[in-house]
Amino acid sequence: MNKKIRRSGAKIMASLIVLLGSLSWVMLFAVINGTIGQLLALGVTLFGSIGVAKAIGGDILMPYWAIIFCAVGCGVFRGLLRYIEQYSNHYIAFKLLATLRDKIFGALRVLCPAKLEGKQKGSIIAMITADTETLEVFYAHTISPIFIAIVVSASVLVFVGTFSSWYLSLVAIAFYLLIGIVVPIIASGKLKESGVEYRKEFSSFNAYFLDSIKGVKDIVLNNAGEVRKAEVDRRSDVLLAETKKMKHEITKSSALTELMVSCAILCTLAVGIVLVGAGKLEIYRMIVGVVAVFGSFGPVIAVSALPGNLTNTFASGDRVLDLLAEKPVVQEVISGKDIEYKNLDVSNLFFSYDGNVQVLKDICLNAEKGEIVGIVGESGCGKSTLLKLLLRFWKKGDGKIEYNGTDVDEINTSSLLDNVTMVSQTTYLFDDTIEENLRIAKADATTDEIEAACRLASVHEFIMTLPDGYQTKVGVMGDNLSAGEKQRIGLARAFLKGSELILLDEPTSNVDSINEGIILKALKEQKNKKSIILVSHRESTMAIADRTYRIDGGVIKEEQDGRKN
Ligand SMILES: Nc1ncnc2c1ncn2[C@@H]1O[C@H](COP(=O)(O)OP(=O)(O)O)[C@@H](O)[C@H]1O
Ligand SMILES: [Mg+2]
Repeated sequence: MNKKIRRSGAKIMASLIVLLGSLSWVMLFAVINGTIGQLLALGVTLFGSIGVAKAIGGDILMPYWAIIFCAVGCGVFRGLLRYIEQYSNHYIAFKLLATLRDKIFGALRVLCPAKLEGKQKGSIIAMITADTETLEVFYAHTISPIFIAIVVSASVLVFVGTFSSWYLSLVAIAFYLLIGIVVPIIASGKLKESGVEYRKEFSSFNAYFLDSIKGVKDIVLNNAGEVRKAEVDRRSDVLLAETKKMKHEITKSSALTELMVSCAILCTLAVGIVLVGAGKLEIYRMIVGVVAVFGSFGPVIAVSALPGNLTNTFASGDRVLDLLAEKPVVQEVISGKDIEYKNLDVSNLFFSYDGNVQVLKDICLNAEKGEIVGIVGESGCGKSTLLKLLLRFWKKGDGKIEYNGTDVDEINTSSLLDNVTMVSQTTYLFDDTIEENLRIAKADATTDEIEAACRLASVHEFIMTLPDGYQTKVGVMGDNLSAGEKQRIGLARAFLKGSELILLDEPTSNVDSINEGIILKALKEQKNKKSIILVSHRESTMAIADRTYRIDGGVIKEEQDGRKN
């Protein structure tokens, strides 16, 4: 799995441009506008110098009024084209950001939940927010400057060569290459390093900070505030140091660029003077040529300033491309079979997360409607893993998992999730009303259906005691909902969803015995209509099971005294 090879800058750029798709036409339009705009900007100074050349007796045919008209015209149109260029660039950038966010969420959805178990949530949030923002810079301010610099420089070289002297063009091209390519390459090595380090620290700081806020109660309870604060300070200092390092590198490279531009101006002027002195160039042609070269560094400087943004952009692009390229452990099944759950049959099932340690070995188990099947076993023996395989969150190894005789890999994912649901150790409640929290199980549920599900889960009475009943905001209740109440809402969700097979992964391990009693009673009352698989490491919970399996060291055995009732 350690395939962490960094893509090259060119590869990242190419892949990001491919993501543009049909927007590339807008990009082309922006680039053309930008190029003409830059040439017009140059035109303002150029016509100025032509005016001066005419004044000192140069052989210029244009009348003064035409020269002034052209200079002013260039200025006005420059403004207009600049507006159109910026407009199209940002149109692309923001359109693309929307698409990109959509793709990231899409990728997260298919990677979910298996691949996301190991990923820090902070870094995902960083990716969705900061990384896509950084890519905006790439699409709006990177591609067009490069094209503009190439076209504008080439035009200036040809103009100066034909009107003035090819020697001046030669000096100009040498400095274009130095400023636009050599300096950025020298700078980019260091910048890339510091950019990657900066992003790493930034995302690690974010993740740690977010984690601390989430766990603030436990930090206070353990009186660990000082230690935690010291660590936040330390990480903040490291981040600051990385930021300084990066800014320092950026400043150094822009200083080098400024120096080069000054040298370029001096050299061009010197060569111009030498040519005039040697009688090879008329003075007015020298003035126009030198002014054209002076005015032409803007686009090249814009390119040389890119590495500062680009290193960040590449690091962001790399991460986003990584995520988009990541293969989910299971592919969504869409052209398989739909089922209507009747029974489950697991035979000779093997599973390993990493290909080395066998978590489950030769598991055989079956479940029918109308019974509660219990699974017990020490913590870490693979109970939750088995349930995740039943839901196809992970891809099973050898062996079979069959619903009504159809292999789980051949059942449409959406049908599988309609038929099978899981209530786990903790139920996550969204910051919304109780009703909306229930509704995620069935978006179009009627109020009656919601209340009926809550009655079955023995949580209706409790909800009615809340200030606004079903409309009570969970956020307002904060931590005032007990784990038991939350679990009962989780159970109500499962009932509302109407799945025929309900998997329960230690649903009562965090709740008090009163709530455990309520939950187990609710399950027992439902057992005739449903198939229930109840996982627990507590023997007491198993009292309601009709049959019990025990997992030990990855091997499963049905308990002989299992048939109760
Ligand atoms: N996403 C995962 N990647 C790798 N190993 C895992 C993952 N999830 C669980 N495990 C390992 O698989 C074993 C079984 O875990 P689990 O099924 O959660 O046990 P149980 O639910 O019985 O307590 C444990 O050793 C656990 O560390
Ligand atoms: Mg577990």
